[in-house]
Amino acid sequence: MITVTVCVGSSCHIKGAREMIERFTEFLAGGEFEGLVELKGSFCMERCGEGINWMIDDEIVSSPTAEAGAEVFKSKVLGVLNKAAKKRPVKGRKRRQS
Ligand code: FES
Repeated sequence: MITVTVCVGSSCHIKGAREMIERFTEFLAGGEFEGLVELKGSFCMERCGEGINWMIDDEIVSSPTAEAGAEVFKSKVLGVLNKAAKKRPVKGRKRRQS
């Protein structure tokens, strides 16, 4: 489980935190990653001058725009989940013996 926490304080809200959350939600809407990402909001992270502030687990990310944040989300969060999915055995398929 990956926890993504987005600051919804007034400064981040004005910079596009809501739009960024909507983009994250769209990425997760397919159901493929259901239950693997917890998306939360938080009060001011006291980094208002840094951009739209959010966290991937304990890592703080500051994005200048919602679009930039969405790109980081795709590469970091979805990238990790896609790698994990590739390592999972497919049900009904036997492992090849060498
Ligand atoms: S409002 Fe987001 S860091 Fe302050």
